[in-house]
Amino acid sequence: MVTVNQPPGPEGGILGLQFVNSFKEDALGTAMRLKQEFGDIVYVKAANTHWFMFNHPDQVKDILLTRAKMFGKTDIFKRVLSRVDGNGLVVSEGEFWLRQRRIINPAFSHLSIDIYEKTMREETERYISEWESGMTLDLAEEMTKLTLTIAARVFFSADVRDNAQELGDAVTVISQAMLHEFYEIIPVPEWIPLPSKIAKKNAIARLDKLIADSISSHRSNPPARPDVLSMLLQARDTKGDQELMPEKQIRDEAMTMFNAGHDSTAAALSWAWYLLLKNPDEYNRFLRSQERKALALQVSKEALRLYPPAWTLPRQALADTEIGGYSVPEGSLLNFFPYVMHRDERFFESPEEFKPQRFAPGYEEELHPFTYFPFGAGPRACIGKEMALTEMSVLLSLITDKFKFELAPGQDNIAPVPLVSLEQKKGVKAIVHRR
Ligand code: HEM
Repeated sequence: MVTVNQPPGPEGGILGLQFVNSFKEDALGTAMRLKQEFGDIVYVKAANTHWFMFNHPDQVKDILLTRAKMFGKTDIFKRVLSRVDGNGLVVSEGEFWLRQRRIINPAFSHLSIDIYEKTMREETERYISEWESGMTLDLAEEMTKLTLTIAARVFFSADVRDNAQELGDAVTVISQAMLHEFYEIIPVPEWIPLPSKIAKKNAIARLDKLIADSISSHRSNPPARPDVLSMLLQARDTKGDQELMPEKQIRDEAMTMFNAGHDSTAAALSWAWYLLLKNPDEYNRFLRSQERKALALQVSKEALRLYPPAWTLPRQALADTEIGGYSVPEGSLLNFFPYVMHRDERFFESPEEFKPQRFAPGYEEELHPFTYFPFGAGPRACIGKEMALTEMSVLLSLITDKFKFELAPGQDNIAPVPLVSLEQKKGVKAIVHRR
């Protein structure tokens, strides 16, 4: 039976504009305030949309796992993402998604990740060999370039060191366009030749060329060390029709992973460095550690707790339903904020403090389930989780073997900016010292 009561929440203002604007101006602050003021389930009617926010792990479990089939990715998310990623894994749904996920999973098995780890090490060592004592680096920019270079090799065996800047610019243009499109109240059709649309088209064409060139070179001369693309090219649905993926679908999956994979990892790494450099005791422990790679994993997980790149996870109700005792009409937007949940003192002790040793072995098993979800939860959780954690640990430990950083002046108070990923407004500038 569907009840008709509504959860507490703020006034949306005329047409919900006040609410939309407050979100646009300060999404994280707004989300934190809504939870403080209204509790675990918050409701706003904005324009014609029923908007819900859930701050309790019971609803994370209910919506992302138990009844995952009743809730889809949002229309707006699918519209914006599919213009770039086609029908790749992040946007596809239903039986088609299930089949793709099944086919693609082996490319992210432990065995595959071990192979990619070698590539990550080689690329990192090569990249940092150009750093010198006394340089001031923007670690956010460096992590973006490095993860891009790594992604190109792990995914496509492509060496993009000479055009990392150009490819990086293309990725930036695409994510800026996406961000803009997420907030459009009236969607601007793709065919209108606005400068931003043209720039986005060119950027997509640049990445398409990288993928197309990689596919043809894989066909003529497969790489000695398997990469993600070689897995995609060989992937068959052994439980289904045994067919290989059509080329367009390979393009969509490759594009999806390239976009989903490196920006979020770069953002997480930048936050990890910032947190280490802001907390000298923790940084010294890390610098002195004999088991740096194990500690690097804890640092990574703690950075993902405080600054989850996927700071919000939206869903849409596919039919009228009930959640937590409240009626939820079809089409309602349902939102989780890992950023908010990860800072909830009911679930995390001293939540604002950076304490990597929380994530010592055993801690996650004891955590209240569904309170820590930087990679999402349920069937649609991140396929690249192990890859991302491996990459973060490899980079943090290899770089720390050779270099020590010091925050540059004026870098003490870096606030998070919720773009497509949770980033820093102007990077993280640090001075390099060779150890
Ligand atoms: C620190 C880095 C990363 C973070 C924080 C992250 C976070 C997430 C989250 C939260 C989701 C679920 C989205 C939702 O439920 O709406 C997701 C899905 C996904 N991620 Fe990641 N991700 C990261 C790295 C990667 C990497 C390295 C890849 C490489 C391929 C990747 C590929 C994907 C794909 C394909 C999906 C969609 C999975 C599906 O729906 O079946 N991600 N990611």
